[in-house]
Amino acid sequence: MSLTPRQLFVTTALPYANAPFHVGHMMEYIQADIWVRFQRMRGHTVHFVCADDAHGAPIMIAAEKAGKTPQQFVADIAADRKQYLDGFHIGFDHWHSTDAPENHQLAKEIYIALREAGFISTKSVEQFFDPVKGMFLPDRYVKGECPKCSAKDQYGDSCEACGAVYSPTELMNPYSTLTGATPVLKSSEHYFFKLSDPRCVEFLQSWSNSGHLQTEVLNKIKEWFNTDESGKTGLSDWDISRDAPYFGIEIPDAPGKYFYVWLDAPIGYLASLSAHFKHIGQDMNAFLADPATEQIHFIGKDITYFHTLFWPAMLKFSGRKVPDKIFVHGFITLGGDKMSKSRGTGISPLKYLSLGLNAEWLRYYLAAKLNSRVEDVEFTPDDFVARVNSDLVGKYINIASRAAGFLSKRFGGKLSGDLGVEGRTLLDTLRAHRATIEALYEEREFGKAQREIMLLADRVNEYVDQHKPWELAKLEGQEAVLHDVCSVCLEAFRLLTIYLKPVLPTLAAQVEAFMNLPPLRFDDAQRAMGPHVISEYKHLMQRVDPKSVEALLAQPAPAVTAPQEAPAPGGEALAPTIGIDDFTKIDLRIAKIVDCSLVEGSSKLLRLTLDVGEVDEQGQPKTRNVFSGIQSAYQPSDLIGKLTVMVANLAPRKMKFGLSEGMVLAASHADEKAQPGLYILSPWPGAQPGMRVS
Ligand code: MSP
Ligand code: ZN
Repeated sequence: MSLTPRQLFVTTALPYANAPFHVGHMMEYIQADIWVRFQRMRGHTVHFVCADDAHGAPIMIAAEKAGKTPQQFVADIAADRKQYLDGFHIGFDHWHSTDAPENHQLAKEIYIALREAGFISTKSVEQFFDPVKGMFLPDRYVKGECPKCSAKDQYGDSCEACGAVYSPTELMNPYSTLTGATPVLKSSEHYFFKLSDPRCVEFLQSWSNSGHLQTEVLNKIKEWFNTDESGKTGLSDWDISRDAPYFGIEIPDAPGKYFYVWLDAPIGYLASLSAHFKHIGQDMNAFLADPATEQIHFIGKDITYFHTLFWPAMLKFSGRKVPDKIFVHGFITLGGDKMSKSRGTGISPLKYLSLGLNAEWLRYYLAAKLNSRVEDVEFTPDDFVARVNSDLVGKYINIASRAAGFLSKRFGGKLSGDLGVEGRTLLDTLRAHRATIEALYEEREFGKAQREIMLLADRVNEYVDQHKPWELAKLEGQEAVLHDVCSVCLEAFRLLTIYLKPVLPTLAAQVEAFMNLPPLRFDDAQRAMGPHVISEYKHLMQRVDPKSVEALLAQPAPAVTAPQEAPAPGGEALAPTIGIDDFTKIDLRIAKIVDCSLVEGSSKLLRLTLDVGEVDEQGQPKTRNVFSGIQSAYQPSDLIGKLTVMVANLAPRKMKFGLSEGMVLAASHADEKAQPGLYILSPWPGAQPGMRVS
């Protein structure tokens, strides 16, 4: 089978840079990575890139809370990415950031092109504004009483108590969750992308019907086109601007206005590709201008709207290449729930690795569950164990372990050239399935592909059971037959390894090493390995211990929550029970506040200079610098000379204002608005700096 080499530009969604990866991200990357490896194994060229989605109000606010600049905050998140990607064998060519210069540049270029083509308009928009913070409040930062049932502390869009749906301006006694201040309505000029332009509707209708989308996605899109009374179909204009302060990209010729994060986020695909092309010394524009180039985005179902309407329209009307495929997947769920970090549910990818679970087990399991539709994938522990142990190890790995030993011990690892009629027939069957398996990978029907491969493994195992190499080995004069049977097994194992390699890249590399083969590609299936010497077989993959899967899923002990009627002490439920070992990990020391000052540029922090009885190499007293968010409660003069308690073994943290070398302890109610006040701890008289608190 000869193929014209394809040139592919493949991305996965850009994760928000406000949290580490969860298993949902890993599922998306694994799905895309399998597809990319498959294409490469067929000799196609793939540029596979991703980036952190750095901008937006939530990241800006999270950074401020962490006492970091947004740039530092997202850089810290980015520094954490590699261990996950390497850990699960995800082979992006490049990882970028939407805050990188390429993205600023491209976002501005695309915007200006849209403006010149008549797709940008402005309109005054009235919105809640936090007068203390001096910023417009995204809906999620406004709370208040439900206009229907008066339930307190409801979000700006709907009431959790009675289910009413409303807009933030309808809330009674609204307050900003950032400062507690009462927000005021204020208007400001916003920039819009005119999706209502008839050119847009016309283009999107034709683009979405031209084979770029899954059927279910296409049906969804049809719902999104609204049809007015006159029967005219259209889309609403899209608000693409946000007012300062905002962590984002400034809009050209619009001082104080920034692109809404979802405008510059997908442009990050191009920015990342551009940085990658710089590294490899190729011309991105020529690549994208080539009609043979295919642009493919893997995304989750929750962000379909952005990728099937806004993004193609932005590209089209700024005169750029539009996507060829948007591959939408469902969510990975656990016990029917979408995994969510905030709810503390789910599988932590790093915990998975640290428990010694093999990354390729998860890759295989997900592959076995994935199809080309927008369906959720339920992670079932028993199913995970069964698929890995019975299929992957029991059927596939077993073939090599049953035959390789005899080859090494009895034939110096040399495979026989003549495989016998039955053996050749078996191998021909395996080869004959190559086209089907390739077609399934191409279609992202990974589950069907794995089933097909395991059926082939079943046939090989039947062959082994019929010929019983372990018995042949004991019989006189059966050397040649034994040699042929074991050689057939190894050749079959090589073919199955080719078929599984997109899913199990590291295992395949071990097989290549053990069998002394160059990197396997799909067309190697057509050629027999021929007389060939293999190295000694070492066990390639263990079985999963169900206990480690249990450990993976074990949640921290449930919080001791008081009954509904009795409010939790201090406004929050007690944390899960810990053992004394957990407690002794925290080194609390008496600290003397030898100096204290305001921090320029921060309305929250105080800078404390603490003496915890330490000395430097010269024996001179040494102090620590600690930033603490207690400015609302104390003046520096209140604190100088006082004793308090600090966490002395907390890893130093680089903050916007300098290094913080610990943390002082303070008490507050969980609901700062209901019960304001912040109180630092102080020991009874007699305690000395440096004494441990235990
Ligand atoms: N930053 C945006 C995407 C911008 S793309 C230009 C975003 N980030 S995200 O971190 O929330 O999600 C990143 C990807 O992970 C999305 O495709 C999302 O659908 C996917 N998933 C998030 N949770 C998931 C599961 N539980 N299961 C599978 N994928 C999930 O959205
Ligand atoms: Zn209500």
